Amino acid sequence: MTGNRNKTRVLILGSGGRESALAQKISQSAHLDKLFVAPGNAGTLQWAENAELDPINFAQVKDFIIENDIDMLVVGPEDPLVRGIHDYFQADANFRDLAIIGPWKAGARLEGSKQFAKEFMQRAGIPTAAYASFDASQLDEAKAFLNKMQPPYVLKADGLAAGKGVLIEPDKAAAEAALEEMLVGHKFGNASDKVVIEQFLQGVELSVFVLIDGEHYMILPEAKDYKKVGEGDTGLNTGGMGSVSPVPFAGKDFMAKVEERIVKPTVAQLRKEHIPYSGFLFIGLMNVDGDPYVIEYNVRMGDPETESVMPRIDSDMVDLLWAVHDRRLDKMELKVKAEAAACVMLVSGGYPESYGKGYPIEGLGDTDKDTLLFHAGTKADTEGRVLSSGGRVLAVTTLAPTLAQALEKTYKEVEKIHFDKMYYRKDIGKDVCR
Ligand code: AMP
Ligand code: GLY
Repeated sequence: MTGNRNKTRVLILGSGGRESALAQKISQSAHLDKLFVAPGNAGTLQWAENAELDPINFAQVKDFIIENDIDMLVVGPEDPLVRGIHDYFQADANFRDLAIIGPWKAGARLEGSKQFAKEFMQRAGIPTAAYASFDASQLDEAKAFLNKMQPPYVLKADGLAAGKGVLIEPDKAAAEAALEEMLVGHKFGNASDKVVIEQFLQGVELSVFVLIDGEHYMILPEAKDYKKVGEGDTGLNTGGMGSVSPVPFAGKDFMAKVEERIVKPTVAQLRKEHIPYSGFLFIGLMNVDGDPYVIEYNVRMGDPETESVMPRIDSDMVDLLWAVHDRRLDKMELKVKAEAAACVMLVSGGYPESYGKGYPIEGLGDTDKDTLLFHAGTKADTEGRVLSSGGRVLAVTTLAPTLAQALEKTYKEVEKIHFDKMYYRKDIGKDVCR
């Protein structure tokens, strides 16, 4: 841990498509000495060595960092951040030179508590849906508040609920029942000890990504993700069925509004409240008639947005991440490819409900050389075959001069891959490409 900026040894924590895309990008760095992903998956082996670590077992991560002389720790998922992995290492003087990409516990509350995030936005004057929050002792007040709102009703568990803590109920009786289940029935465990009820925002969603060094920021390419399992945005919510970048409606004017009304005040408010922050910030937005409103903050990259954002970045990622650690992001220039990226997620039939695992994946070797295969839920068996090991199995990304061309190319590549009960949406990007 000498903080070696020229021959950097990097450890990425996580095991999904997001971490695969981070690994691919980081593997291209001229400053990289060695890359590990922990625990990784069968696909991260394309670019890195996997390490059998549990990202929330900080002592285990620490031992690995010492043994392998790691200079930079990139935290993929939110869980270790919300549990304070950054604080854990900062408390130990031996790790002063370790670059940790991901905020301290205080900053991670932007994702870890919806109520905190809403109050933060209010203090900073950042546009977001009107809301109120309640605990179990306030069930009557919460129901009275619902009475004042218009349908559909948006109910959010305050804490982390693995992306499932938001319910949108079309009628009041269902909303009241859901509220009671959350607050009193502990539907999401402790995460729903408090519930945020907020105004429904009508519009198109957009994911904006920002690198923050505590003082300066850099806006990365935006993306749109497709959350519903069914075509035409129907059916259950998933972890994401595909993504595209850039997003045609997020033109210069709209992104200028995002920067002035949301990004700048967010970074300024973090400083004002002495909340240290270093790493990625993902701002989930709703474009309401041309004006951006924040739906949520996440203190990490998005998945599967990372799978279309990272391939578009031309800058050296390790270089950028050292600038985050050194607080000199203002001295850096972001280089973005002119090409568009389209990512389609291949899932196991039945997902996000019950689905099978362990299906051999065929055709991985038949795709074009420049097609990116970001494994999300895979593992290698003893004979080296790649098997599915999750609901979301594989993200396929291609780049092309236009988004329409990238989508066409990605779907052509998808047809070369097969596993039992494979399912994917055939309409990714169609809505924004028209
Ligand atoms: P989250 O788990 O916070 O990402 O929320 C899940 C999804 O719920 C979001 O991606 C939106 O599609 C939707 N959502 C959350 N808040 C609102 C809102 N205030 N108005 C409309 N849709 C919302
Ligand atoms: N794509 C949404 C998320 O990563 O939370």
